[in-house]
Amino acid sequence: MANVVITNHPLIQHKLSIIRNKETGSKEFRTIISEIAMLMCYEATRDLPLKEIEVETPIAVAKQHDLDGKKMAIVPILRAGLGMVDGIHALVPSAKVGHIGLYRDPETLKPVSYYCKMPLDIEERDVIVLDPMLATGGSAIDAITQIKEFNPRSIKFMGIIAAPEGLKALQEAHPDVDIYCAALDDHLDERGYIVPGLGDAGDRIFGTI
Ligand code: PRP
Ligand code: URA
Repeated sequence: MANVVITNHPLIQHKLSIIRNKETGSKEFRTIISEIAMLMCYEATRDLPLKEIEVETPIAVAKQHDLDGKKMAIVPILRAGLGMVDGIHALVPSAKVGHIGLYRDPETLKPVSYYCKMPLDIEERDVIVLDPMLATGGSAIDAITQIKEFNPRSIKFMGIIAAPEGLKALQEAHPDVDIYCAALDDHLDERGYIVPGLGDAGDRIFGTI
């Protein structure tokens, strides 16, 4: 079964309080979503392989370590996943970006797919799928099913807030995908919103409320 990591670092917890607050405006919300993604990227890339190299400092030769040619791709689920891209790129500027367009039908809560574009060399890359909200899990499950058709080397999922229902569904559907989240909330309400959550992430990022 997949690993689930809930990153309860104090900086992330502090930033979560700000984005949960309904008084936080779009500009600050966007900034903080990106900052949380950057901090979570640190955790999600902990297993990147290294190779030993030598570097000449002004004083002597130092035995150092470099990343061992591991290539990454990030795949935001539109729209809200876009808010996490800059934060990851700040740490891994070479990561290529694929896009998956999905929205959740408000009646059925099932994902409706409208776009999919992956980097051409995705078979050589390790993918991190980005979406701040893992509610029923339908969108993440569908996105990962689509990405698997392109045969990437590996797939991880990075969210910010998860509901227990979505976490369980994603683990069951894709037991090979490790999951990183900043918070595991209480439950889903009757409209499929995470409680306490932060509301509609896409609307808060793009100001479409
Ligand atoms: C939100 C969110 C996830 C999805 C999560 O997107 O960003 O993609 O809902 O819900 P689920 O786990 O039940 O599938 P939404 O459908 O609101 O689209 P948007 O990002 O374009 O607003
Ligand atoms: N999508 C969101 O943006 N928020 C939720 O709470 C659930 C789904």
